[in-house]
Amino acid sequence: MEIIILKDAECVADMGGELVAELLRVSPASVLGLATGGTQLALYRKLVDKHRSGGVSFRQATTFNLDEYLGVTTDNPQSYRAYMQRELFDHVDIDPDRTFLPTCAAGQNPVLVGPDYEKKITAAGGIDLQVLGIGVNGHIGFNEPSSSLNSRTRVKTLTRQTVEDNSRLFDTGEFQPRLAVTMGIATIMDARRILMLATGANKAAAVARMVEGPVTSMCPASILQMHERVTVLLDEAAAESLQNRDYYDWTHQQNESLKARFGRSHDV
Ligand code: PGA
Repeated sequence: MEIIILKDAECVADMGGELVAELLRVSPASVLGLATGGTQLALYRKLVDKHRSGGVSFRQATTFNLDEYLGVTTDNPQSYRAYMQRELFDHVDIDPDRTFLPTCAAGQNPVLVGPDYEKKITAAGGIDLQVLGIGVNGHIGFNEPSSSLNSRTRVKTLTRQTVEDNSRLFDTGEFQPRLAVTMGIATIMDARRILMLATGANKAAAVARMVEGPVTSMCPASILQMHERVTVLLDEAAAESLQNRDYYDWTHQQNESLKARFGRSHDV
């Protein structure tokens, strides 16, 4: 894992946005795996700004989101489809027919959504770069603790903690889903590159378990230790429980000087 610790959440979004934009500049027809949640809002703002200033085009890109609620229609502002339209898709030049979420249409059997989504990802050639956030409980996508490390896209029940963490986004009395369709852990691990963003002190414990703890289904993000190409962007607060902090900073400095000498080509 490449662990990069930056001053604050703004710098995390800056560097994350630059990594995504750089990939699209080098390979405009890339397949991006996208995430929702509070952390990614700043990343999408950066990408929209870059698009507006001519710094990035999504015209040939394809996107697959990690997850979508079950029982919330896409016209509901709480749906992840609505989030993606609002935060990114409506503001960039992406072809709407190439933006995918694991949405279960009304009347559709939710059990069939996962295998169908997997087929679409495969048909698109697999995911080049998967953007991830991490839950306070160590989840990635909606793969909650105890999810099989070999899981594929399927229906998952959210933990009470995740429901609680997300309740701030729902009005009192509003229906809040307990179920979602999420890419599985093995689906995420198939991505050729992974970009994890985590900010804020409430993520520090989960980040430490992900990076320095044992690989265990009780912290699904810890499986990323087994992926050969993961970049983790953290702000100071999210990095505060890391024991090996000095080494990550030192490594980052070495990588930067390698890049300065040999260019960034190995990095995109
Ligand atoms: P957050 O969610 O960015 O809203 O904290 C991250 C996650 O649960 O994966």
